[in-house]
Amino acid sequence: MSQRTCLSVILAAGEGTRMKSAVPKVLHPIAGLPMVAHVVRAAEAAGSGDLALVIGHGADEMRKATQKLAPKAETFVQDKRLGTAHAVLAARDAISKGYDDILVMFGDTPLIDPEVLTVARRKLAEGAAIVVVGFRTSNPSGYGRLIEKGGKLIAIREEKDCTDEEKKITFCNGGLMAVAGKHALQLLDQVGNDNAKGEYYLTDIVEIAGGQGFDVVAAEAGFENVLGINNRAELAAAEGIWQTRRRREAMLSGVTLIAPETVFFSYDTQIGADTIVEPNVWFGPGVKIATGAKIHAFSHLEGATIASDCDVGPFARLRPGADLKQKAKVGNFCEVKQATIEEGAKVNHLTYIGDARVGAGANIGAGTITCNYDGYSKFFTDIGEGAFIGSNSSLVAPVTIGKGGYIASGSVITESVPDDALAFGRARQRTLAGKGKELRERFASAAAVRKKA
Ligand code: UD1
Ligand code: MG
Repeated sequence: MSQRTCLSVILAAGEGTRMKSAVPKVLHPIAGLPMVAHVVRAAEAAGSGDLALVIGHGADEMRKATQKLAPKAETFVQDKRLGTAHAVLAARDAISKGYDDILVMFGDTPLIDPEVLTVARRKLAEGAAIVVVGFRTSNPSGYGRLIEKGGKLIAIREEKDCTDEEKKITFCNGGLMAVAGKHALQLLDQVGNDNAKGEYYLTDIVEIAGGQGFDVVAAEAGFENVLGINNRAELAAAEGIWQTRRRREAMLSGVTLIAPETVFFSYDTQIGADTIVEPNVWFGPGVKIATGAKIHAFSHLEGATIASDCDVGPFARLRPGADLKQKAKVGNFCEVKQATIEEGAKVNHLTYIGDARVGAGANIGAGTITCNYDGYSKFFTDIGEGAFIGSNSSLVAPVTIGKGGYIASGSVITESVPDDALAFGRARQRTLAGKGKELRERFASAAAVRKKA
């Protein structure tokens, strides 16, 4: 089958008014990736080399987004929304290039499993002219019904055009279709709009193909595969299903999730075996974790790379560019951004490390801040191997702490410190005998005078 060419036509011209959004519906994200990009990825995973995206509402924004998300996709504008067949025909120029297989998909159906598409393509390869992806439901209201006879699909009837008897059918059209490329255009061109909605229904090609003696079959898939998103509640439901799938996949690949329902992944999260993730952890886009790491509760990670056996959190925030090498530790209430924490280095408590390198084995005391920004530009802090930064120190960048450098706690370091040097950047302590008591007495009598007045 791999030799068969395939074009996916993704319909995304709907207005999505029920999203109540200034953003086109199909650009709303699931797991951090616009839903239409999930569809694109599924198509690609099923071997669809070419993509045609049919857009309407928000065309400029969609074109821009498409360039980023699916640079290979060609966009076509459907000016008037005259139905799903009309929408597919907006991509006529792409279809007429001649493909073995045409997949028609909806841009607002992000949970489609590539396997379902592969099965549909296989049936085309076996000789079917059309394969319709169907699902069974106890509540078919609103869906087109699949009308079968002798194992063949003879028609799809939209709800509004169904007889009472047909309305009882629970095998429904999921919306996805695979069509033999060589017949696609002639079938689509015969679709009329003589129906309850006055629309050109893609679903009509089933009956037309049957009338020409072609083989038309249904392929059953789980409902999730064809779950369409129309409002934010459905968006959240799809997110939930996606997360449940991904958590299971992570666990089956050797990751421990103590409370899986509280851990959220992004579309591209990579996480190695024997990593333990405690409850309430958020993985934004771009996180890569090797094996054997511990991610403690309430941590928020995004764009971070974590090598094996690292320890992160609880309550750690790793921002883009955080790069933790083997056995590094970033503890509670620490934020790391655009910084490398070398092997075995420890950033344990209440610290901000940004635009920096922390050398191997270095120890960063509680409350250390790299002052990386002067309100205009960002500057780099380089902390050498084995350095010790005393608690509550500010390292004012650009600044270098040499290998084995030792910073007294409470320092404000504005000048670079050579290897193995000790630096104090604070006022010398003065201790005045008996002064504490004296002060307390003075304050107490002043307070008594104030109370009387
Ligand atoms: C469609 C199917 C129905 C199926 C259901 C599954 C038809 C005629 N009906 O109905 O059998 O059970 O999906 O969810 O195909 N679109 C365009 N341009 C148009 C019309 C639609 O781009 O002119 C796009 C929409 O953005 C959407 C998709 O096509 O992504 C489906 O359109 P929608 O109006 O939701 O079709 P349904 O009535 O739900
Ligand atoms: Mg719909």
